[in-house]
Amino acid sequence: MLLKSYKSNAFKEPLVSSGKKSTELIANWQTLQRIFLQPESEASRTALFKYMEQILFGLNDFLNEHVGITEEASLLDLSDRFKNSRISKNPAKKLADVIKVLIEDIAPHAVNVSSPYFIGHMTSAIPFFMVHLQTIVAALNQNLVKLETSKVASVLERQVLAKIHRLIYDYSDAFYDHHIQRPESTLGTFVEDGTLANLTALWVARNSFFKPGNGFAGVEKEGMAAAYKTFGIDRCVILVSQLGHHSLQKSGGVLGIGNGNILSIDVDHTNRMDIKKLLAAIKSIKADPRKTKILAVVGIAGTTETGTVDPLEEIAEICAENRIHFHVDAAWGGPTLLSEKYKSLLSGINLADSVTIDGHKQFYMPMGCGMVYFKDPAIMDNIAYYAAYVNRPGSVDLGIRSIVGSRAAMSLILGSALEIMGSMGYALLIDHGIETARSFADEIKRRPLFELVTAPELNILTYRIFPYDIKKELNSANLKKKKELNNKLSYINITVQRLQREAGKSFVSRTTLNKTANGNKVVLRTVIMNPMTNIDIIREILDEQEKIYYNQFGNSGT
Ligand SMILES: Cc1ncc(COP(=O)(O)O)c(C=O)c1O
Repeated sequence: MLLKSYKSNAFKEPLVSSGKKSTELIANWQTLQRIFLQPESEASRTALFKYMEQILFGLNDFLNEHVGITEEASLLDLSDRFKNSRISKNPAKKLADVIKVLIEDIAPHAVNVSSPYFIGHMTSAIPFFMVHLQTIVAALNQNLVKLETSKVASVLERQVLAKIHRLIYDYSDAFYDHHIQRPESTLGTFVEDGTLANLTALWVARNSFFKPGNGFAGVEKEGMAAAYKTFGIDRCVILVSQLGHHSLQKSGGVLGIGNGNILSIDVDHTNRMDIKKLLAAIKSIKADPRKTKILAVVGIAGTTETGTVDPLEEIAEICAENRIHFHVDAAWGGPTLLSEKYKSLLSGINLADSVTIDGHKQFYMPMGCGMVYFKDPAIMDNIAYYAAYVNRPGSVDLGIRSIVGSRAAMSLILGSALEIMGSMGYALLIDHGIETARSFADEIKRRPLFELVTAPELNILTYRIFPYDIKKELNSANLKKKKELNNKLSYINITVQRLQREAGKSFVSRTTLNKTANGNKVVLRTVIMNPMTNIDIIREILDEQEKIYYNQFGNSGT
């Protein structure tokens, strides 16, 4: 079913396929060569240009026109349309047809994350120029694993790494002059996402502790069992607040630490790691008869669910005293450093041994850009791998110290974006997010039907529908009744969130805050990052939630 037709002559012109009859497409050597060569004629150049226009403007017009989140079609119906597991032997479609289908038939059923009414997740609108930059990355097709497939892209990447490193650590000119292009120094690395960035940081922390020496070849070579035996250790643990991202558990599994050894530290009433609880945990680990190495403490600069920032300075001090690797997960909050107004919210981040930042979050890049930075430019030597055909010792090959092998030049996008936006441009986005989230919180407080659950520190907040009669009943309820009323509240919030999502105009997410200072609560969660989201739109979203609530539950919440 074609939902919307974008009439364009471009779709009528064949570009890459040839056939005996116009309806029959065949794969042959001549056609194949044509798609690998530059367009050879003026006609094919024009056709290519038209297709790009369709992608750049057709899709953009489409997204602008459809401020709604997604077209109405059930996932079941959609999945029925994608049940063909056979690869067609001959070409099935021309490029023109493929583009047409993607724009007209697939895009409407994707999620319009660009909508200013889409405020539920850390994925949002991206500046228009990102599409151009992404296209250049694809067209150049550089592979940053080695210099031989990237050349200038590798040295450009080192420059981008130094810029973000400087944003975090702010060392001297002399420091950056020395390390920026020095093959032996690694200020950080690009990976696919925040998950791999966190894994890399903890991998480095693990290998730096279980180093080679005294006949031991290092944990990377000999494995965890030999490392524990050599160091006389029974287990390793990593400490993180209850609001830690689950990528840390994955790291525990992958690194052989065990995800059960990623230990949660309670948060205080502001949802930040409780420092007293951290100190108590360290004390009790030291007193434990099992010999335990605390490999790292992770401070979060912008938790996924509440957007709060842990007390980084205090955690840094504790880590320094106890000789523990201090990692900061700033996957979300890192770019706040670009805002003169709000960068102090992250104070202490410069004391971290390692820092995760995601480009595809608040650097507003397309998907696929995680980064991890290290205070010590030599520490990544602990994860170095060499290969005879590539990544030779002493080379500039960026793949030497990386969990990733082949990878795209996402640094080219970030480097260009920093030039296009400047730190002031990014600061406007960050300030808008934080300040709009604050106005949002005020609006919630003004409306009797709602309760603000976690106030925004950065640009994330949670709230819930909390009808007055349930509030009143809860005050005098016994334990059994309280449980019943809490279940009712959960049901109300789940229902309203679902119905709003299904209506297709707006989207807020929901989560259960069973790990925060606020106890076990189903809450509505919003992330304000789209610069087009303003307080009027937020009021509309809340109005819609009120309407759904009253339609479904009347006044009583039953
Ligand atoms: C604090 C934090 N750390 C890590 C991650 C993982 O990032 P990614 O989804 O890019 O792997 C997220 C994702 O939301 C996050 O919020």
